[in-house]
Amino acid sequence: MTTILGIETSCDETAVAVYDQDNGLCGHHVYSQIAMHQPFGGVVPELASRDHASKLLGLVKQTIASAQCCLSDIDAIAYTAGPGLAGALMVGAGFATSLAESLAIPTIPIHHLEAHILVACLEEPAITFPFLALLVSGGHTQVIEAKALGDYVVLADTLDDAIGEAFDKTAKLLGLPYPGGQALSELAEGGDPMRFPLPRPMRGRPGYDLSFSGLKTAVFQAWEVCDKTEQSRYDLAASFQLAVTDSCCHRLEKLLQSHVGSQLVIAGGVAANTYLRREIKALAARNGCVPYFPPTALCTDNGAMVAYSGYRHYKNGWQPQDNQMCIYPRWPIESYGK
Ligand code: KG4
Ligand code: ZN
Repeated sequence: MTTILGIETSCDETAVAVYDQDNGLCGHHVYSQIAMHQPFGGVVPELASRDHASKLLGLVKQTIASAQCCLSDIDAIAYTAGPGLAGALMVGAGFATSLAESLAIPTIPIHHLEAHILVACLEEPAITFPFLALLVSGGHTQVIEAKALGDYVVLADTLDDAIGEAFDKTAKLLGLPYPGGQALSELAEGGDPMRFPLPRPMRGRPGYDLSFSGLKTAVFQAWEVCDKTEQSRYDLAASFQLAVTDSCCHRLEKLLQSHVGSQLVIAGGVAANTYLRREIKALAARNGCVPYFPPTALCTDNGAMVAYSGYRHYKNGWQPQDNQMCIYPRWPIESYGK
């Protein structure tokens, strides 16, 4: 039996999980720093690092206890090595490598984006390489061809803002607290998506890349000149959600029509969005592919995705190295393992 402890500290969630071969995900805790960062309207890196440092040990103990195992059962410790905030990554990496060294077990540095993608396979073993992945998070918006474990090609990327960033900035404009993506989607439920005609950036342009900054500017302009009633907040939220989803789906559909692929994984925080999920399901059906979404609780940052990715690499013949701490704040997924 193989048991992996996973540690995630790349941004504003301290998260720990235990994954084991026989029982699957058997312990899983996330401590969100959102309330701490909210007064600043975004993540304050120094505060994030300090908070990870103060919470991590307690969270590891809690997770090991709820997994009903002990430290001596752990075969390897997987931790997020990047991309992410340097100081925040260092807390998780330093903790993981020290603990592993004291237990005489290996560490497995994990790529955060790969972990977001692979977590879809945790509950859906039917997914097999190669497959396509739409990664929609707070920092990234990419379509990735997952050729094999650790082997990824980026087929489309955003030229400017990430989709989650666009959600968060629109949410802030409408007076919602950071990060705002989910609250904005709830606001949108009471709105008329046709009220504000917003642009669909990149439509008609060659290639598959995405762009959201023009849409963000249009949302700001629409808000500036409107009556700012409660109904207008709902309507702008709904119009934005429609435009952003439409833009994303339109480019994705174009790509699907020229890339053969029968499996599409949707990953990252924005994959929790109900409207996006619905539209992607319809798009996948039109294009003959099966969409796979991780459970919503595992879309945003969590330790399960790190523990599970560690497990996959461990089983794939991971070659233990010395427990040298690795952090790569900027780490293109294509350069993984190279
Ligand atoms: O993947 P994630 O937890 O962190 C990064 O790796 O970036 O994604 C966080 C992003 C935030 O922008 C948040 O607002 C967005 O995911 N998000 C959502 C929803 N839930 C989280 N956006 C739209 N609708 C949601 N339901
Ligand atoms: Zn993430």
